[in-house]
Amino acid sequence: MNRRGFLAAGLASLGAACGLPQPKPEAESPRVSLRDVKRLVAQRVDPIAGRCRYVAGLGTRQVAQPILYARRGESFDALIENALPQPTTVHFHGLTLPQAQDGAGFDPIAPGASKRVRFQVRNRSGLYWFHPHPQGFTAEQVYAGLAGLLVVTDEEDQALDAALALVPSNRLALAIADARVENGLIRPYAPGAADCLNGWIGNQAVVNGRLDAGWTVAPGWLRLQILSACNARGLLLAFRQESELVPFHLLGTDGGLLAAPREVDRVFLHGGERVDIVVDVNGRRALQAISLEFDARHHAQSAPAPHRHPGRERYAPLAAETVCENNSNEGAGPADGAELALFSLTVEGTAAARTPPLPARLSALEEPVPTPDAPTRRVRLDFDERTGFLIDQAPYAIDETGFSVSRGAREVWEIKNSPISMPHPMHVHGFGFRVLRRQGTFGAARRLATEPGGRFPTDLGVKDTVLAWPNETLWLALDFALPPEAAFGGPQRYMFHCHNLEHEDAMMMRNITVT
Ligand code: C2O
Ligand code: CU
Ligand code: CU
Repeated sequence: MNRRGFLAAGLASLGAACGLPQPKPEAESPRVSLRDVKRLVAQRVDPIAGRCRYVAGLGTRQVAQPILYARRGESFDALIENALPQPTTVHFHGLTLPQAQDGAGFDPIAPGASKRVRFQVRNRSGLYWFHPHPQGFTAEQVYAGLAGLLVVTDEEDQALDAALALVPSNRLALAIADARVENGLIRPYAPGAADCLNGWIGNQAVVNGRLDAGWTVAPGWLRLQILSACNARGLLLAFRQESELVPFHLLGTDGGLLAAPREVDRVFLHGGERVDIVVDVNGRRALQAISLEFDARHHAQSAPAPHRHPGRERYAPLAAETVCENNSNEGAGPADGAELALFSLTVEGTAAARTPPLPARLSALEEPVPTPDAPTRRVRLDFDERTGFLIDQAPYAIDETGFSVSRGAREVWEIKNSPISMPHPMHVHGFGFRVLRRQGTFGAARRLATEPGGRFPTDLGVKDTVLAWPNETLWLALDFALPPEAAFGGPQRYMFHCHNLEHEDAMMMRNITVT
């Protein structure tokens, strides 16, 4: 956008913030092939509310807020351009990449600068995503709208669509976020002390960039690949028709398809996690996707002083926070665990006699068997009134060593969350893992832990982000093997952190060096 357009947009949103309608985002997020992306620009479109977006440059065309598609094995080779007034990075969450392409924040792109990023997609089919990861700015930038989807396909994935007889309208990739909305307008990011403790929770869902989002689909199977891009809110995803909950089937998680489908009527989905589900909408007219009310288990009481990452003061916030002077964050914000409407579905077309049966086998994934001699690494998640949330009692330092593991090593991680803590969605960069066992899950969630080892159905797949409830201990199987063509040369540094983005920005992170 030229300077004049930029100013005009700023004035338009000034009007919007003071009561005029905000411009409507595109009804459908455009699909773009990952291979065709030559530039990926992070830009601010609204300096008043601080809203931002990704724009993909495809040579002759520019596409705002695209959903990227790639077949496994395809490559990305593009210039990432930072048109924000703050440092940024682009992290491809869930992909196995060398450190230099991981976008983890070790190497931020300065405002106005750019960086060439090249990699090959080696992961299984599934829903992955990309988002900023600059130290101390991640929460603000993701909330501003910088979160994009990457759908990876392969043979298993195509075989599934064929078996379900899916029509194109009935396969959707959705990023669910939440925002603080007043009079139909998204408020700027302005966390206070309580938000730094609990995370910044919104009062309305924003799905693929839209408030009150809805889709029209055809009768038959509906396949939804859903990401929680919420900063901090937990979701208990369900579908309702009038007052009845509609059953659905869990087919996959963060890193692709399960071995076999599982019928459920609700699943937890926390920040950074994904689910791949199908709903039989044959014979139905209208459904509402909701997050059911649940006990969010926020047990930490007193808020520590808000943490500011060193260097944060050098850059202004994305939003002009004082416009209209009504964005004060005093008093209780919206509550995690409160019921929330997510999006609506309208079914149009003639119902078929019946939907095809679900395949009994979805993928060749096997139950994780821990290697008997795998060393156990103990990780403790704690809360301290002075310093806030910590991993192993230590706040993050960007140049720390953290954990050191050898390439090819198999480890069991025992993650224990303190009883006086909060739910922490813990994420490992670069390597998917499997959940072996859970212990100490609180009663209401425990009822959903229907699988061996006290696990949830969502624990059965390949994960890269997993929720640790307060008082829970989790055992994970990690495999630091890399495919031979992905040797990446030399030690590689990755991150392990809480994906509650306010906790992440407040240093609930560690480095992992793979030697
Ligand atoms: Cu989705 Cu380290 O992040
Ligand atoms: Cu990640
Ligand atoms: Cu956390």
